[in-house]
Amino acid sequence: AHVVTSRCFGCKYTDCVVVCPVDSFREGEQMLFIDPEICICCDQCVSECPVDAIFAEDDVPDAEREFVQLNAEMAVQCPEITQKKTPLIER
Ligand code: F3S
Repeated sequence: AHVVTSRCFGCKYTDCVVVCPVDSFREGEQMLFIDPEICICCDQCVSECPVDAIFAEDDVPDAEREFVQLNAEMAVQCPEITQKKTPLIER
């Protein structure tokens, strides 16, 4: 699966959600998560994120490894997000 990492925290640009063909994004208060049970690793969201927060699981940097588990845990608790919304900070 693909994984949303720390650069999303406090940003939530949400460019990623509109390109996901399987609606795998979930919205936390401070960042988004990808449900690994749904993500098909199409890779389309990776280039959409302006801060490069999304990685394929195998490409997640060592310092961000904890986000693999966090995405899985949080995705099941958070509501689906499929439409772009105003980011938490200006680009
Ligand atoms: Fe977050 Fe980037 Fe999406 S900042 S909301 S992963 S476009």
